[in-house]
Amino acid sequence: MHIGTVNIPGKLYLAPMAGVTDAAFRLICREEGAAFTCTELISSKALCFHDRKTYSLLRRFPGERPSAVQIFGSDPACMAEAAAIALEETGAQVIDLNMGCPMGKIVNNGDGSALMKDPDLAGRIVEAVNAAVPVPVTAKIRRGWDMGCCNCVEVARVLESAGAAAIAVHDALWQQGTITPASTQREIAWAYYQWIAANCTYDDAGDNTSVSHLPYSLFHNGKAVCDGYTGAYNLLLKLEGIDCYALPNATHIWTVATLDGETVHIDATWGDQGNTGTKQYFAMTPEQSYSLHPWPKENELPQ
Ligand SMILES: Cc1cc2nc3c(=O)[nH]c(=O)nc-3n(C[C@H](O)[C@H](O)[C@H](O)COP(=O)(O)O)c2cc1C
Repeated sequence: MHIGTVNIPGKLYLAPMAGVTDAAFRLICREEGAAFTCTELISSKALCFHDRKTYSLLRRFPGERPSAVQIFGSDPACMAEAAAIALEETGAQVIDLNMGCPMGKIVNNGDGSALMKDPDLAGRIVEAVNAAVPVPVTAKIRRGWDMGCCNCVEVARVLESAGAAAIAVHDALWQQGTITPASTQREIAWAYYQWIAANCTYDDAGDNTSVSHLPYSLFHNGKAVCDGYTGAYNLLLKLEGIDCYALPNATHIWTVATLDGETVHIDATWGDQGNTGTKQYFAMTPEQSYSLHPWPKENELPQ
């Protein structure tokens, strides 16, 4: 694999992890087969202010190459200056730009994954850093800022046009801070259900030709008829690896999902009908669900 002009002699790239991937950790990983290593995220502002403690994060183990220094920030000029400093201090082969960190203290300054909300600024940062250093510039982004903004493809295109030599995508949304690897499928499904109920409204002007039937409408403008609600909800569950399908009748449509091995019915549309945030239409038994949705007839149910 190559990143720009840099040859990566293997397939394993050690992901940057703040507080974990220091030089000693990276050395062990290199000895165990990592072909490429990267520092944790380092503040561009702190580098520009020549903060001594921050400089210590630039330390590399002897012979650490090929490797990257990852910096974060949202001011193109400061990021460019910090990249030049990082390169001069380390001789790194790649400068990586963090556009994926979800921590409050980072995103509240418009840094890290907050840049997913401003692709134009993210592109200008890549351009400025590219102009400041002679090595390939890469970026690490997220799937999107929140569930209404799954824009990693758009951001990746902007960064590529701005000159990024490679882009890594952390397959998670910023808002998923509450969804952790330890979350059960029920907790994940509940987090998305709450998000839809809190952020989206039912569009009762919809007829069958309305674009608001598409899940896209719910993500795009927060409005959809019931098909859109169910489509969007099912899409989010499927992205999380949860089995589900849509169960329609003549006038309505809802979700049947398997959460932690149990089949449940979820009505994302009705979750928004004056019951925001309640569990009334979440994880119903089929009996509860059919009593609320009096259709289809018993002989019309999927076998
Ligand atoms: C403790 C910790 C610290 C992290 N710090 C950074 C970081 O400094 N820069 C970065 O780009 N990603 C950081 N990440 C994200 C990881 O690089 C990686 O993208 C994420 O953990 C997804 O990979 P996984 O699904 O294998 O966990 C961090 C992740 C963890 C768990």
